[in-house]
Amino acid sequence: MRILPDRASASDVKFPVLIQGGMGVGVSNWRLARAVARAGEKLGERVLGVVSGTGLPVILVNRLQKGDPDALRALRAFHPGIAQEIINEYQPPSNGRTGKPAKLPPKPEVMVTGTPRIREKMVNLAVASAFVEVWLAREGHGGPIGINLLEKVQLMQLPVLLGAMMAGVDYVLVGAGIPHQVPAALAAFARNETASYRLDVVGSAEKYTMTLDPRRLLPEGPPLTRPRFLLIASHHALAMRLAATVEVDGFVMEGPLAGGHNAPARGKALAEDGQPIYGEKDRPDLAKIAELGKPFWLAGGRATAEALAEAQEAGATGIQVGSAFALCDESGLLEDVKKRMRDGIEAETLEVKTSATASPSGFPFQVVQLDDTLADPAVFAARRRVCSLGHLVEAYQKADEDGGGIGFRCPAEPVEAFVRKGGEAADTENRVCLCNGLGAAAGQGRPTATGEEPVILTLGKDLTFFDQIERRADGGYTAEDVVRAILRREDNHHRSSATLRAEPLKT
Ligand SMILES: Cc1cc2nc3c(=O)[nH]c(=O)nc-3n(C[C@H](O)[C@H](O)[C@H](O)COP(=O)(O)O)c2cc1C
Repeated sequence: MRILPDRASASDVKFPVLIQGGMGVGVSNWRLARAVARAGEKLGERVLGVVSGTGLPVILVNRLQKGDPDALRALRAFHPGIAQEIINEYQPPSNGRTGKPAKLPPKPEVMVTGTPRIREKMVNLAVASAFVEVWLAREGHGGPIGINLLEKVQLMQLPVLLGAMMAGVDYVLVGAGIPHQVPAALAAFARNETASYRLDVVGSAEKYTMTLDPRRLLPEGPPLTRPRFLLIASHHALAMRLAATVEVDGFVMEGPLAGGHNAPARGKALAEDGQPIYGEKDRPDLAKIAELGKPFWLAGGRATAEALAEAQEAGATGIQVGSAFALCDESGLLEDVKKRMRDGIEAETLEVKTSATASPSGFPFQVVQLDDTLADPAVFAARRRVCSLGHLVEAYQKADEDGGGIGFRCPAEPVEAFVRKGGEAADTENRVCLCNGLGAAAGQGRPTATGEEPVILTLGKDLTFFDQIERRADGGYTAEDVVRAILRREDNHHRSSATLRAEPLKT
């Protein structure tokens, strides 16, 4: 039996004007998404809080190992038998004496015996982890909650979608690829039927399809509701292609200033400092998007009231914002990391560069240039390569002499292992382990053999939002402060005498 959290009112019926973009790993956690949706509700405006769906099994295991009471509470509202199995497997005994290092969750890799299958334990953990994140984000308010997924992380798609739907997620937002299989999976789960997902396998002409039957986890309870599906894309061509073939409810059009991953530039040439060069051809034609007759949002350097008004003038329903929320109190980033970045913005010294090579996914990735992070060549060189979490792996066809079937590789793993699996050594150059590096930035890192896992940080390139947010004397601010700044709602009540309005940045 599923127990959904008490909600102040039914979920939204209108589309949000402001979307807090999904930020993995663990940056847009349930606390941030809930705070954002709550702020919208408080201000009487439609604002969507989005949890990141990336790396959730690892995050749930970490929380259980720390005895996190919220995670335990949410897990108990999930399938009781499976919840107990997960607790038994990962929670250390209450006296804290196991004598063993904390157990890692299994890698998502599939087993191949005819049809690919993710190990049942991993499926259960992934479904439960998405349920927990969405369940907690929805608790105690009536604002809408979404979940963000990356198409590149195909292995986790079905279990994460199912868990999010079991917790009543309102929106599913997917980027980093062509997520044409998501709408059918959502519809199948809503009919309580088996959903399927074809895995892209490099070097294979065969079709490998993963399936998940929701009835095993949903023995009883009301049927699941199909959430709205929003495609995150950079160009109108992809939006038009998807709209013509599958059921899409709207589009987030994300430009090259956005934090996280970006779409590759159409031109292949790089600037002298190695950054991709975006031009006119990369710009989406918003008239073409508007003609599709669905709502759309603009993302990437849009986090101000003026940018919201401009977007709406161009026909958009609103904007999606990431960086401004990544630096607020409720974001999952470590406090000292947030502070260092906020101080850098304040001092006008913080630099964000688009790396064409850092991400194992092959997409350009925005990297904050700070010492003591993986952007620092010395820190990068000192980290021993290891692939311990395996969420950004690529599936490949194994050679017959290696037993055939599917294998998994990541260009950020140890070079010899990648090459042994048929990868090109040149592809490994400058690749950063984002699973571990981004997780570490959100306090989800695990110590390595050589010390603490180093962090990698990402933000968007346009940081002009910062001087429009009412900040405290310590430079910090809340998710509500961001929502207020964008919606132009003054706050006369929540400041104490100990807080100041920060001076605007000089430009
Ligand atoms: C720290 C961080 C992590 C992000 N992670 C993701 C992600 O996991 N999935 C995704 O679709 N977008 C991700 N993004 C992009 C945001 O959802 C959003 O679209 C983008 O940040 C908007 O641009 P802005 O940062 O200029 O506001 C991330 C952005 C940041 C800053």
